[in-house]
Amino acid sequence: MQALILAGGKGTRLRPLTVYTPKPIVPICNRPFLLYQIDTLKRAGITDITLSLSYQPNKIEHLLGDGSDHGVKLKYTVEPQPMGTAGAYKFAEDLIREPTVVFNGDILTDLDLKAVIREHNERKATATIVLAPVENPQSYGLVETEKDGRIRRFLEKPKADEITCNTINAGTYILEPNVLDYLPAGENYSFEYGLFPDLLKRGEAFYAHIPARTYWIDIGTPERYLQVHSDLLNNRVSRFHIKERRGQFDSATVAEIDEISMIGDDCQIKPGAQIINSVLGQGCFIEERARVENSVIWPHTRIGTTAQLNGAIVGRGCHIGRSAVVGPGTVLGDKTSLTDYTFT
Ligand code: GDD
Ligand code: MG
Repeated sequence: MQALILAGGKGTRLRPLTVYTPKPIVPICNRPFLLYQIDTLKRAGITDITLSLSYQPNKIEHLLGDGSDHGVKLKYTVEPQPMGTAGAYKFAEDLIREPTVVFNGDILTDLDLKAVIREHNERKATATIVLAPVENPQSYGLVETEKDGRIRRFLEKPKADEITCNTINAGTYILEPNVLDYLPAGENYSFEYGLFPDLLKRGEAFYAHIPARTYWIDIGTPERYLQVHSDLLNNRVSRFHIKERRGQFDSATVAEIDEISMIGDDCQIKPGAQIINSVLGQGCFIEERARVENSVIWPHTRIGTTAQLNGAIVGRGCHIGRSAVVGPGTVLGDKTSLTDYTFT
């Protein structure tokens, strides 16, 4: 078994964070996101991994290299322009002539992947999709199943009046290599609108895997990006418990840092500052009496005296002026500078 991670999307819903950092490597609790997916694959014994890239591929390749630092073998395919999810898989054809686990490159889950593979093999399935329950399937692919686990219907981004169940495509598939023959070469093509409905028409053995009580989130919007941080900080993701919350940093004894917050190396935290339920990247500077709550701050950002942040995501190398108030939902791109007393 090998793996292909679809990591070529533009990450538009996470802009401006993704202007200089492609979504697959945005930091999640100070680790590039893809490392979590690599962990999941390694736990299932899969080390032969292809990354399918399109947007800012060099940054991803430069960061992860041949994978040897992480105990895996990484290969890369780079589409000249985005080919769509199934088009990207077809484009990687030369590298994937065996059954393959395919991940959407923006899903964090504590799924037991071995169990998915076992069930796929037992059923002799052509394709297996992992499902997740969500409150509102409208931004996902809705999947209806039969009692025996076969897929009855696949409907991408359903309208409100088309919703018949709460189970959606969790962005994890196991595909037998013969499905490559159903895909057009050199064309933009989608799993969701193209291959999956097509497999149903062809009557292929196309099954759902419905895991019991599994954490699942698509990190691709600011709300969910913050949510995944809060979930990890609060140990709500069973297979990803954070071990090191504190790097080597300087803090005034009168600063207040709660137990769950993460502080990267080389940060400086001045007297009276408060850090609550938050993550600071490497080399951040938090001035006197500033308060950072429920927020994620990327490396080398400076927060001015008595500034207050709550529910914000702040990019790399920003400067938040003194007494600025940065409220919930604020997303600042790299190198943003907010004048003293700004209110968002
Ligand atoms: N290489 C490559 N080329 N990758 C791509 C391309 C492409 O043209 N288009 C998208 N991707 C990657 C993205 O980087 C992302 O990791 C993944 O494919 C899914 O794309 P998204 O743009 O994030 O899709 P979505 O979140 O709206 O919907 C998909 O994921 C949902 C689960 O989060 C669908 O698969 C839904 O059916 C599913 O429910
Ligand atoms: Mg997504």
